[in-house]
Parts: sequence; structure tokens; C-alpha cells
Amino acid sequence: EKICMVEQILSEFRLNKEELEEVMKRMQHEMNRGLRLETHEEASVKMLPTYVCSTPEGSEVGDFLALDLGGTNFRVMLVKVGEDEEGSFKVETKNQMYSIPEDAMTGTAEMLFDYIAECMSDFLDKHHIKHKKLPLGFTFSFPVRHEDLDKGILLNWTKGFKASGAEGNNVVGLLRDAIKRRGDFEMDVVAMVNDTVATMISCYYEDRSCEVGMIVGTGCNACYMEEMRTVELVEGEEGRMCVNTEWGAFGDSGELEDFRLEYDRVVDETSINPGHQLYEKIISGKYMGELARLVMMKLVNENLLFNGEASEQLKTRGGFETRFVSQVESDSGDRKQIYNILSSLGVLPSELDCDIVRLVCESVSTRSAHMCGAGLAGVINQMQERRGQDTMKITVGVDGSVYKLHPYFRDRFHQVVRELTPHSEITFLQSEEGSGRGAALISAVACKMASWI
Ligand code: BG6
Ligand code: GLC
Repeated sequence: EKICMVEQILSEFRLNKEELEEVMKRMQHEMNRGLRLETHEEASVKMLPTYVCSTPEGSEVGDFLALDLGGTNFRVMLVKVGEDEEGSFKVETKNQMYSIPEDAMTGTAEMLFDYIAECMSDFLDKHHIKHKKLPLGFTFSFPVRHEDLDKGILLNWTKGFKASGAEGNNVVGLLRDAIKRRGDFEMDVVAMVNDTVATMISCYYEDRSCEVGMIVGTGCNACYMEEMRTVELVEGEEGRMCVNTEWGAFGDSGELEDFRLEYDRVVDETSINPGHQLYEKIISGKYMGELARLVMMKLVNENLLFNGEASEQLKTRGGFETRFVSQVESDSGDRKQIYNILSSLGVLPSELDCDIVRLVCESVSTRSAHMCGAGLAGVINQMQERRGQDTMKITVGVDGSVYKLHPYFRDRFHQVVRELTPHSEITFLQSEEGSGRGAALISAVACKMASWI
């Protein structure tokens, strides 16, 4: 009987095919509004041109430095780009992870970029390459309005970042200034790309059909190759340009109101950016654990879980991490793993409690996968309609902790995407070291182009 009441409460998380089609349609509608000049300003999905274009004509070879800022980890990488007999690229990387201290994330932009320059300096020392002025590719995973490949202003921070004085400024400029302030090394910043774009590019060199990039990690976003003539924000008609959709902001103009639940509203209201990134807040890893915690608290308050008594940790915002969602759902069926997680959080669960917690996690992560699938189906159907092919073959490069580490996210997600895209044949390609390689490869192409001018 208890479980029936729990299931009743969790049933709100289920989305049927009609509902998912509706989300997909609205996503497509919003994407088109973002692309068009006259509706761009008010559109929630910004569809930002990236200046990454189709048909790269070869690239430079050599050493490149790559930075990766905006996911779980900040990384500095040294990437060797080369060519073999078939003309394809071989890339080798050395990389180091640095954690970003809280005060650098939420202090001033100068503090954040000084810290980044400090990490770069440390990395160059370690690899004895401080004397070289290397070309640099910067993966910067936030919404940027580009004026060129190496120039663009940060529109707004997302995820947990909030460094003041960065929004509205040229991000590459902020980085160059910080490097100048240090004065102990030089760098030639040649490209700045979103992580979705870096992921797509890195997969493109393995599979030439890769024209979509997607991240489901701390945040959630996608990019794809759009026909130049429909990218109204940039002049030119020929070929394709990669568009960073910034679909995480879908819903910010009310497009998801009939799908958002009470838990979504609490997550949003207690976040650093209320009213923003509403689609992302339903899907991504930054919020998934908290959503599950709020649902558990609801069940506790209804006396359906833990005898109506939660621990201090479970009562605390952020007390249930996203990785626990993956771990709970990875339990083999003997409830041991679930029991261990819950007892580490200060509750002593019964067997039924363990089963209920698993149902909670499944509900939250399944809705996430399905919502995300509806969005990607929107992107793919849009491409297929534009290209007018009966069956479009397309590869999607993917990265991010939720996609890679959750035991069932991937399958649930793939299933929905395929169900909603009957005219496309989709391959999903997981990117490895995507951002480093992607940023370096696009820099290599940029250097080649610069050498022609
Ligand atoms: C990494 C990429 O592998 O995945 C980053 O190198 C990207 O560029 C990240 O931002 C996204 O996943 P997460 O889970 O770290 O946010
Ligand atoms: C957020 C950022 C976006 C990024 C995504 C994944 O949505 O705004 O730029 O691609 O997170 O990291």
C-alpha cells in the first residue's frame, strides 16, 4: 500500500510519447526563433554562431596548449597534432587537472583568470616548455557571443560560476590580460570554443559524419552544423557553421511550465541563477542529486520513507550528491550499495526504504534522459528537414559525467532519441579527452588559415 502511494507521487515524473513530442516541437520552434534575426533577442535558446565552419582545409602540425574550463574539472593540456600517411590526425596529450577554489569561481573575474594563468604557468614549468610561445585553444563552457573564433563576450555565467566583471566582456581578452599580468610566459590564443563544439570536433576526426556535439554533465548543452543561410546572425550563404544552441536555457520564457514540478521550482529558487537554465536544471548533474533529495524529503514528510524521519544531512541542501543517484541505480539487487550510501548519510533504512530510494533515483534520472532525448531529437529532425534527405546518417559526439557514469542514462536517452527521429540513422560516439583534442584541432586549423592570409 505504501509503495502504491509512493508510485502515485513519482508518476508525475513520467513523460509519455506525446509529451516528449511536444517538448521536441517546442525546442525546434525555439531554436528557429533563436536563429532568426527578428526573434533572436527574445528567444530563450540563443543559437550562438561559433565561427567553426565546415570543410576545414588542412591544419598546422605541432604542439598546442589547450585549456578546459567549465566542467567538473579545470584542465591544462599539451596536445601534439600530427599527420600520418592517410592525412588524418594523430593527437597525443599530456594533461593535468586543477581544482578551482570556490573563491575563484565566485570572486572577481581577475581572480579567476589570475588563477587560470597560475595553473598554466605551473603546467609549463612541469613540462619545461615555458620558453615556447605556443598556440592555445581555450574550451570555455559557457554562453559566448562570438565575433570571431578568437573573440567573444560572455553573455552570462551558468552552473556554479559567478565571478564578477566577466559578463559582457571578451573572454579571450580577460585571459590575455591575466597572462600579461603574470609576465612569466607568452601564449598565442587562437581559438575559443564551447565544450560541445570541442567534443564534436574531436569526434569529427574519427567519424566524418559527426556534426552534432552534446554534453550531459554538470551542465547540459548541444551544438550542431547548421546551414549558413539560416544562421541569420552571420553574413554569408555557403556551407555550414556550427551553432552552439545553449539549449540549457530552454524554458526560461515559460516553454516548460506545464512540465515543471514543485521540486524543479525549489531547485531553481535556491540556485545561484533563479529563473535561468530551466531545462538544464531538469537534466544535468549539477541538479540531479538535489532533485532526488527533495523528492525523498517529500516522501519523508508524507511518512512514506525512513519512518518519517530524515537525517540532518538529508535535510541539508546538496546533501545527496548526483553520483549517489548513479550508485543507487547500480545496486545489483541485494540493496547493499543503497544501504551503505544511506547509512553514510545518517539514516538506517529498511529494505522497503532502499527500494523506494531506488525508485526515486530512477524517476529523476529517467525523466532527465527522456527530456534530454526530446531536445536532441529536435536538433536532429531540424537538420534532417533542412537537408531534405529521406534518411539522414548522423553521428553525435557526446561527453559529460552523467552520460558516461550513470548506468542507464545512455540507453534510456538513446531509445527516446531514436523513437522520435524515424528519418535518421544515429550513431553515438563517446569522446575521450574531447575538449583538449577538440580545442587543439580547431586551433591547428585556425593557424593554418592564418598562415594563408
Ligand atoms: C569533459 C570535457 O570531459 O566533460 C569538458 O573535457 C566538459 O570540456 C566536461 O565540460 C563535461 O562534463 P562534466 O561532467 O565534467 O561537467
Ligand atoms: C552549460 C553552459 C554551456 C555548456 C554546458 C555543458 O549549459 O551554459 O555552455 O556547454 O553547460 O558544460
